[in-house]
Amino acid sequence: MNIILLGPPGAGKGTQAQRLQADLGMVQLSTGDMLRAAVASGSELGKQAKGLMDAGQLVPDALIVGLIKDRIAQPDCAKGFILDGFPRTEAQAVALDKMLAEGGLKLDRVVEMEVDEKALTERVVGRFTCAKCGTGYHDSFKRPKVDGVCDVCGSKDFTRRKDDNAETMKTRMTAYRAQTEPLLPYYRARGVLKTVDGMAAMDEVYRQIRAVLAGA
Ligand code: AP5
Repeated sequence: MNIILLGPPGAGKGTQAQRLQADLGMVQLSTGDMLRAAVASGSELGKQAKGLMDAGQLVPDALIVGLIKDRIAQPDCAKGFILDGFPRTEAQAVALDKMLAEGGLKLDRVVEMEVDEKALTERVVGRFTCAKCGTGYHDSFKRPKVDGVCDVCGSKDFTRRKDDNAETMKTRMTAYRAQTEPLLPYYRARGVLKTVDGMAAMDEVYRQIRAVLAGA
């Protein structure tokens, strides 16, 4: 099964994608994570993306589409994939349609995660991530079981994103409303869009997503 998790910054796309990957074996394809890896490696792509990401603006479509096209062609994606943070513009959605058609692949579901804007800022400002395995946490909503130690890999090294602050969130939300939200009618018109309550507790959001996928 191939799906998209669609929602504003901090909606919980990464949190739910990690869980779906662990339980269903589908591959999480996070363009944000791919770009952050490119920035960390100092690659040409990373150099082009860094300033835009730090400012909360979108990276040009051509760079992102190339990244996803190469990734979807890799053998592990044959198990199915979860697009997390892609597509984010209509041009990206059209490019995805083309990639899927060329690969003989189908888009089974687009899951919209609906969350109040006030909650989004609180979520991103409190977010931190295990620097070793990438597991996501939150200061209030998801603390590690043992303070300062990752539940999954035991690492004591955590990171916070530079764009996770209230000021940059305003730019990220503007980009979401202007460029990504129009994808909702795009997918609704095809009958693949389903909406879940992203304000619910993480386990309940997960339950709703699984129910939506079971009906695909
Ligand atoms: P990206 O990394 O994709 O960021 P984003 O879309 O802004 O989404 P986030 O990662 O902030 O949020 P999320 O929905 O995954 O939430 P999470 O699960 O972590 O993109 C970063 C940048 O890269 C972009 O600004 C852009 O510059 C560039 N980029 C990436 N893709 C691009 C593309 N396709 N085109 C162009 N540019 C692109 O949850 C957030 C927090 O809330 C966590 O701490 C979590 O523990 C907590 N939480 C989650 N669910 C719940 C819940 N139900 N209740 C309470 N807390 C919760």
